[in-house]
Amino acid sequence: MKRIITYGTFDMLHYGHINLLKRAREMGDYLVVALSTDEFNWISKNKKTYFDFEKRKQLLEAIRYVDLVIPEESWEQKLTDVVKHDIDTLVMGDDWEGKFDYISENTDAKVVYLKRTPEISTSQIKKDLNGVN
Ligand code: CTP
Repeated sequence: MKRIITYGTFDMLHYGHINLLKRAREMGDYLVVALSTDEFNWISKNKKTYFDFEKRKQLLEAIRYVDLVIPEESWEQKLTDVVKHDIDTLVMGDDWEGKFDYISENTDAKVVYLKRTPEISTSQIKKDLNGVN
């Protein structure tokens, strides 16, 4: 069984997220999503989410491409996650291009960056809706 992992905030889930999850799942048989906790978002990513961790987790668990959701609480946990969950491939959007190559250098897992879906992001949605009823 080929096991994939990906990381992210996935706030206000949109079709860019779904496209990423679908393509990640198609690369194997089992997809783990490491979902940034509210604390990790705030302290390390400088992001205040609209939906809290439990709501974002519930939404992800309802998606057919997602098999397991675990918390992402630090930048450093990737190496241990890959070993613990017996991961073959770590997948990220290409906004992270090159950033996690050290995982493939230190474990048996491959790292693949997928092209982002153009013109959509959570921060763009927030910006576009600002002041609109
Ligand atoms: N992603 C994507 N295409 C998009 C938006 C996101 O492929 N249009 C991917 C990201 O590259 C990442 C995952 O979805 O691998 C989770 O992204 P996240 O940062 O949670 O979503 P964004 O919409 O980019 O959020 P923000 O605008 O707040 O950064």
